[in-house]
Amino acid sequence: MMLHIPEVLTAAQVIEIRKTIEAEDWVDGKATVGAQGAKVKRNRQLPELSPTGLKVGQSILKALANHPLFVSAALPMRYMPPLFNRYEGGEHYGFHIDGSVRSIPGSNLSLRTDLSCTLFLSAPEEYDGGELIVADTYGEHAVKLPAGDMILYPASSVHQVEPVTRGARISSFFWVQSMVADDGKRGLLFELDQNIQKLRAKLGDSEELVGLTGHYHNLLRQWAIV
Ligand code: NI
Repeated sequence: MMLHIPEVLTAAQVIEIRKTIEAEDWVDGKATVGAQGAKVKRNRQLPELSPTGLKVGQSILKALANHPLFVSAALPMRYMPPLFNRYEGGEHYGFHIDGSVRSIPGSNLSLRTDLSCTLFLSAPEEYDGGELIVADTYGEHAVKLPAGDMILYPASSVHQVEPVTRGARISSFFWVQSMVADDGKRGLLFELDQNIQKLRAKLGDSEELVGLTGHYHNLLRQWAIV
């Protein structure tokens, strides 16, 4: 399931983050990729262990933890520290698939990449090109979102970033391990949760809603691996 998560960051938070990270030294994006990705990746990134990047990344994860739509869709258990990339002057990242298991820097934990996240930090009018293209069984989907918005998509998808032909595209990207590994099961839980919430807003609490909420949690109990 691909999902647009609007307004993860406020306009003021985007400005502050941009000011902070743009003052840093950026390195070749090949630093965090495997052999297949290295052949098609042309961009720049903040170094993986950049103290500034780590600090800004924590503020992004904090904002996400308070975003009910994200929590409902991702059922997050573990995160990779957010990374930051920058494409300009024709830079791009050809079709590839993200590695399935990554070790979390600065810890002895690993993470299964269930979900990929791209949080846009440049406004669409600041650059041309730079669409994130995600391929699934229904074809290719082009994604270019307002600054502060995020796309959440299954990390099992083949994807690319189109060449940036004007301006610069700055974004944060990272991976989430979900409590529910299977994208289909996670999607069912998301739909159930969203509809329960809409029913509650429309009708208030009722015996039936308590039953449905219990059903949601009992499914989650069966499927969650924590
Ligand atoms: Ni990727």
